[in-house]
Amino acid sequence: MEDLSLHILDIVENSIKANAKNIEIKILIDKKNDIIKVTIKDDGKGMTEDELKIAFDPFYTSGKNKKTGLGLSLLRDSALKAEGNVDIVSEINKGTEIQAYFKISHPDMIPLGDLSKTMLVMVAANRDKQFRLSHIYNGLEFNFDTAEFKAHKTDIVSYLKQIKDKLEEYKNFLEIIKGDLYGI
Ligand SMILES: Nc1ncnc2c1ncn2[C@@H]1O[C@H](COP(=O)(O)OP(=O)(O)O)[C@@H](O)[C@H]1O
Ligand SMILES: [Mg+2]
Repeated sequence: MEDLSLHILDIVENSIKANAKNIEIKILIDKKNDIIKVTIKDDGKGMTEDELKIAFDPFYTSGKNKKTGLGLSLLRDSALKAEGNVDIVSEINKGTEIQAYFKISHPDMIPLGDLSKTMLVMVAANRDKQFRLSHIYNGLEFNFDTAEFKAHKTDIVSYLKQIKDKLEEYKNFLEIIKGDLYGI
């Protein structure tokens, strides 16, 4: 997996498969402490203790049509390479929280990727879900909540237009972060 946004896409797909209605994504970049923390929390079906024990196993999947389950294991590989790790907290019938953290300055830290586009894809493909995003970078903050945009049941075109406009703002926010982080 080449960037963080694609990992997020993959982890959110697990939440969708677990029948979550609400998906919360938090990205916290703390430049001073050289850490980036990504949390993805859902209210899906959760995992049993036995499922939790093997969740990182690349050969374990509850999916019916494939032999391997790589999402969590690839995320952990990326995190470990950048001196980070992944924690899972999950409760059956309540939901799941995945927290990944990385050392930002590490040479093997993966790029952030196109987070704005990834958000758009996830929201557009899952209009029946509520997505919340909170991205914090030092003193700056970008917040997004699909519940603010009510038109999704009646007017899909207008719903997507509003989402797109809001995510344009996110794009600008990300440009500022990238400039500050990588000096570009
Ligand atoms: N958010 C989640 N809610 C419930 N179960 C999950 C969640 N994320 C992962 N799992 C469980 O962990 C397994 C492994 O996930 P993953 O590594 O992404 O592989 P895959 O999705 O290909 O099966 C899934 O098959 C599923 O059983
Ligand atoms: Mg998966």
